[in-house]
Amino acid sequence: MPAEVQYNRQGDTAVIRICNPPVNALGQAVRAGMLDCLEKAEKDEGVRAVLLVGDGRTFIAGADIREFGKPPQAPHLPDVCNRIEASALLVVASMHGVSLGGGLEVALSAHYRIAQPGARVGLPEVHLGLLPGAGGTQRLPRVAGAAAAVDLITSGRHVGADEARTLGILDEVREGDPEAVGLAYITELLAAGLGPRPVSRMPPHDALDWDAVYAATLRKGRGQISPAQAVRAIQASAELPFAEGLKEERRMFRELMETDQRQGMIHAFFSERAVSSLPELKGVEPRDVRHVAVIGGGTMGAGIATAVLLAGLTVTLLEMSQQAAVAAKERIAGNLAGALKRGKISEAAYDGMLQDRLVLTTSYDDLSDVDLVIEAVFEDMQVKKQVFSQLEAVCRPGAVLATNTSYLDIDEIATVTDRPGDVIGLHFFSPAHVMKLLEVVVTDQTAPEVVATGFALGKALGKTSVRAGVCDGFIGNRILNTYRTAADHMVLDGASPWQIDKALTGFGFAMGPFAVADLAGLDIGWAMRKRRAPDRDARERVGRYPDVLCEAGHFGQKTGTGFYVYEAGSRAGAPNRNLEQIIAAERAERGIRPRAFTEEEIVRRYMAAMVNEAAKVVGEGIARRPLDVDMVLLAGYGFPRYRGGPLKWADMTGLKSVLADIETFAREDDFFWQPAPLLEKLVREGRSFDDLNKAG
Ligand code: 3HC
Ligand code: NAI
Repeated sequence: MPAEVQYNRQGDTAVIRICNPPVNALGQAVRAGMLDCLEKAEKDEGVRAVLLVGDGRTFIAGADIREFGKPPQAPHLPDVCNRIEASALLVVASMHGVSLGGGLEVALSAHYRIAQPGARVGLPEVHLGLLPGAGGTQRLPRVAGAAAAVDLITSGRHVGADEARTLGILDEVREGDPEAVGLAYITELLAAGLGPRPVSRMPPHDALDWDAVYAATLRKGRGQISPAQAVRAIQASAELPFAEGLKEERRMFRELMETDQRQGMIHAFFSERAVSSLPELKGVEPRDVRHVAVIGGGTMGAGIATAVLLAGLTVTLLEMSQQAAVAAKERIAGNLAGALKRGKISEAAYDGMLQDRLVLTTSYDDLSDVDLVIEAVFEDMQVKKQVFSQLEAVCRPGAVLATNTSYLDIDEIATVTDRPGDVIGLHFFSPAHVMKLLEVVVTDQTAPEVVATGFALGKALGKTSVRAGVCDGFIGNRILNTYRTAADHMVLDGASPWQIDKALTGFGFAMGPFAVADLAGLDIGWAMRKRRAPDRDARERVGRYPDVLCEAGHFGQKTGTGFYVYEAGSRAGAPNRNLEQIIAAERAERGIRPRAFTEEEIVRRYMAAMVNEAAKVVGEGIARRPLDVDMVLLAGYGFPRYRGGPLKWADMTGLKSVLADIETFAREDDFFWQPAPLLEKLVREGRSFDDLNKAG
């Protein structure tokens, strides 16, 4: 019997215990072990019931994701589930921690389910580009009804024990040791004369308007196919006998297993966990952070303070004047009110954060005992240096001094202190209390434990933290500037901003680049273009049409006009038709004869620019691994998760074809389209970005 599954007799019950740390994933050895144990129980004289329990922190977190993409090995999970359900013995699952995916499917093949009050269940396969493949789409609707099954399976959300019981997924919720609770429950069931109760024999559930549900789910998925496919599988459970429905589910599961979307999403799953595991931080202890100072309480400072308060830490916020400090507090209160409204925090927690854990000041003397400072003042080197000199004077030794700068050279900022090892970039994204991404920007001199502290803070704040080196724009904004430039070039050459946005939302981006610019504020890019103008290479093509908008006071959503025009209070804009004349005038001035672009060409150019810059960022060591870039684009820039990130997308598209595109585009503009040396090298060697991820 494999060590992953243990057999143990308790009176007339055989206890089958899954022991596959850390999360009892259902790898081949577990599947085989479960079958062996079940057979043993059936032959074991006097055994009347079987109890399934998980060892350690959880029942079962699902199939072993590391096996996906490899040839499947028997016994297959659907067969294991069917075998459990068909047993003549009474089978009960006693669940704690999480029962996800295949874990819940195993539980649904048991005849009764009991769980701890803190247990959570769910079928999150859609987040891996799949649908439940071991009977989940057939059994869940039989116990919970069609509407609940559609909700749970297409959203992949986790459900708490109480809700799961209300839905009919669980029979009982009881506190205690899972084995003891399960054994007691079995005693009761046997005493009541109850035996096997296969879910597959339960009557089919209520019907839905399947085509409408399918269409709505497809729309919501922005190009992701697995949730909509799952609707069809649930439909099969309503319309076909159980065994036929199961075959349908299996067929769709196998089809999805072969897709790029499955590869992309599983890459995202593992990369999200790999970003924070850096060899340089092995064994390095972060510094203790309980009290954080935020300098500047504008858009970013207020958002950062909100995130820090939500994580349970104390914040001292420093502003230039009492009036500015009060305005900052109002912003923070507004952010927290949003969290309160969405049920994320209680009324008491809201009051506690604003009254007990937020201190406002205009004096640096109040920062003498903080553990970490995050500076979020105006994006101006002189102002930042002034702030850091003052921090140098008042902060205690060992305090971490962080800047939230978007583009400025952090090494230069650090020169005004005598402790450059304590200086780091913590680059948040707007709105800082909502956006998942945090770039931890490491200078040549940042001390390892300061880097570890940045990552620890990111974790406490619930962020996806990615290590970046110092350069203009770090990882994300540097790549953004390049693909945004490619979009600007296409506008000069004949595409409209709205056509480009449409092509890219069609690709799966949450928003197109022009809608994003309107949201962020067009003044940001304008200031950057002015800053860079003096050093600009004569060969660089820079469109003037966004400047014309800014010169007229149009900064996007906040002024009501940008690339789009926004009705008061509306976030969805209509194309700004006046822009057409502005663009046409610029084309005429430059002697450009506009040409038509297809959506496919728009996507190819945009993605080629993104991948090329991303390869430069990796090649120069600004990002350590391709997966780090992928996570930045996914967590901070609305890149479709089901495509895994730009470099995973490039691997799947074929690096050769991406490089060929870049070389073709370079014939028109060899200044902008300079192929990344790393991309050329990988193509030459027949390797992929993922090979570099694996090499660590
Ligand atoms: N297979 C393989 N490894 C898994 C795994 C799985 N299903 N789930 C988690 N792991 C690994 C993680 O990669 C991580 O490994 P690492 O330590 O080497 O980085 C380790 O287990 C711990 O995971 P987390 O760091 O995520 O720990 P948390 O406590 O934060 O979260 C969890 C635990 C809620 C179980 C979370 O890991 C999770 O959501 N896992 C995925 C669950 C899932 O998607 N299940 C469905 C699988 S598909 C399926 O079942 C198909 C079926 O229908 C046929
Ligand atoms: P903002 O203009 O909204 O806020 C800046 C705040 O800093 C103002 O409230 C101002 O009163 C205060 N301030 C200025 N000088 C100060 C000083 N010497 N001492 C104390 N307070 C001072 O600017 P925003 O957008 O919040 O940006 C702040 C920083 O964050 C900049 O470095 C910016 O590049 C960066 N950033 C901005 C993002 C965005 O989307 N807005 C995203 C990520 C980073």
